[in-house]
Parts: sequence; structure tokens; C-alpha cells
Amino acid sequence: MNKRSIIKSTARYLPDNRITNDDLTGLMDTTDEWIRQRTGIESRYWVKEGDDTGTSDLALEAAQIALARAGWEPAELDLIVMATMTSDTYIPGAGTHLQHKLGGGYVPALDIRQQCTGFLHGLEVCDAYIRSGIAGKILLVGADYQSRFMEKTTANRDTAVIFADGAGAVCIAAEETDETVGILASVFHADGKHADALRVGIPARKSGYAMDPEVLANNEYFPFMDGRTVFKMAVTRLPEVARELLAKAGVQLADIDLVIPHQANLRINEALRDRLQLPDEKIYNNIQEYGNTTSATIPIALDEVMEKGILKSGDHVLFIGLGAGLTWGGVIYRLP
Ligand code: UT7
Repeated sequence: MNKRSIIKSTARYLPDNRITNDDLTGLMDTTDEWIRQRTGIESRYWVKEGDDTGTSDLALEAAQIALARAGWEPAELDLIVMATMTSDTYIPGAGTHLQHKLGGGYVPALDIRQQCTGFLHGLEVCDAYIRSGIAGKILLVGADYQSRFMEKTTANRDTAVIFADGAGAVCIAAEETDETVGILASVFHADGKHADALRVGIPARKSGYAMDPEVLANNEYFPFMDGRTVFKMAVTRLPEVARELLAKAGVQLADIDLVIPHQANLRINEALRDRLQLPDEKIYNNIQEYGNTTSATIPIALDEVMEKGILKSGDHVLFIGLGAGLTWGGVIYRLP
């Protein structure tokens, strides 16, 4: 018997402000038809303009639900892992803001700045802490507050219609249990050659410092995305890494009960489904309702899946995603 990483609870939080595609047509030159056809998105949730909310507040809501469901107090935690690219403050990361709001003393808080693969990397980090015996009870949160960082105009309509706000959380415990349950394997890759394909240039881009008029004029504060490059990389790399992950875990594709992919574009996930020859019911999508909440997509989807009772004891789940960096990878988890 070895220590295994077991997900004890899941939770999600979405701000109470649903924005439909039609709502966006008043802000920029776009249409419901374009957004649905190109991305699959029908609505998303954005924090209300003027709300004094930070990413750690979204994270807090999800974290408190996850902790209550696990029956854990914040002070019992050995570690908080916070995945986000939209921290409340650039320094420090949102993890310490979340830790303070949760209360519970001096629990360490570790930030993961890995954008769309942040939560997936978080699962691997938690598993490493648990297998090595460093931690026994970990809170892992993926939260992003994209609407504050986007320019909602025609100039940036490719990103503005996609990205959204939300948070998801899981409580992960070390349990002495059967080798064949818990996190079975993880695989990650990065290709910095494409670092400029999806980026926010400030505050330390080599060509200028944050307040440089040229940097301001170039809109470096807002995300830039070469959507086609990211799309092509996603449809190529995701099926590759899925196979690598299956081989590492010693699991057959037929044994995977559900794939929960990052929600960047419904067409990317349909391409993954087709390339792996998966039946539609074996891949979970909710981008239609939530848009791309970056590091929150996978824990939000997992929480919905658990709520709907889609998974049962012994089932295998494959989590997978690609995002800015570019980075991509996945995790295979088997329910106890
Ligand atoms: O999670 C982070 C990782 N990100 C991703 O995985 C994103 C991957 N990429 C994508 O999802 C897609 O590339 C997009 C959805 C961003 C764009 O779809 P596309 O099919 O690649 O469109 P495109 O960028 O080639 O643009 C096609 C046309 C352009 O007009 P012209 O040049 O053909 O006249 C764009 O200006 O669509 C135009 N366009 C829009 N039109 C209406 C771009 N955004 C919009 C918009 N509404 N929101």
C-alpha cells in the first residue's frame, strides 16, 4: 500500500451575471452565429462591472464549498495550490490572498502561473506532494477573472467573446490504498517557440516597461492571441499527449470512462474526440454555457460531472488541455 492522491470533494463558483452572445453584439462587431459556429459558446459569466471582486474572491467561494463538502477546516490543510493567470495583484499571487480570506493560520500557499494548463499542473504538483509524504490534505483551486483584463471592443473580439470568469476547487487527500486508484499518471510538455501566440505583454516585456507610451499604445495590457496557431497546435498535440498518457498509466483508451478536456473551443474538443475515435458521450463539454474560464474549466466541469452522477467508483477519467506558453498535458485519475 502506498499513498495515493484521492479527490475528496469538488466545487464550482460562477459570478451571478450571465452574458449571452447577443449581449456582446452591443459592445463589438460580432454575431451570435459567428461565436456559436467558431467556438460553440452560447453564454459566459462575467463579474459585474464595478464589483470590488478579485480572483481570490471567486476562488474563495469555490474553496469554501469544497472544504465544507470534504468536512475539512482551513486550518487542517497542509497546502493550498492556486492556479490562475489573473491574480488580484501581480505580486503576490492570488494564493496568499485566498489563504488570508480562508483563515486558518499559516497554511502554505503555492501559486501556479500556467494559464489554461494551470489546474492540470496543479494536480501533478499535489500528487507529488502526496506521494512524497510532504502533504496529506491539499486544497487545489483553479480560478480566473478574465473579464477585467480584456478589452471588450471589436479590435480584440477574438479573445473577448471567448474568455470568461469562474472558479473550481477540489480537496485532495493522501490515502493508503490500492495502487490502481487515485492519480495514475500525468504528462506535460511545453514549447516556448510559440510563447508569443497567446500572451499579455506587460509588465516586463523586453521592448519596454509597463508605463512606456509605446507599450500602452500597443494595447500590451490586453491578451493577444494568434488563434489559428493555437488551434492547430491544440488539435495536433492533444491526441498525441492523450496516447502518451494512456501508455504511461498502462490504461487502454477503451477503459477511459470520460475525457474532461479544457474548454477553449468546442471545435478543438470535437477534433480530439474524432482523432481518438471516442463516442460523443465519453467527452464532456460545457463551454457552451461558461466560455473559457482558463484554469477553472476543468474543475468546474468535474464538479458538474460529479453533481450529475456521471461517474461511479472505479471509473477512469482523463483530464487534458493546452494553453498559453504553449503548454499542454494531462492527468489520468481513477475514482476510488
Ligand atoms: O484556452 C486558451 C487557448 N486558446 C485557444 O485554444 C483558442 C484557439 N483558437 C480558436 O479558438 C480560434 O482560432 C478562434 C475562435 C479564436 C478564431 O476562429 P478562427 O476560425 O480561427 O477565425 P480567424 O481568426 O481565422 O478569423 C476569421 C474571421 C476574421 O475575419 P476576416 O479576416 O476573414 O475578414 C476575423 O477578423 O473572423 C473574424 N473574427 C470575428 N468575427 C466576428 C474574429 N473574431 C470575431 C468575432 N466575431 N468575435
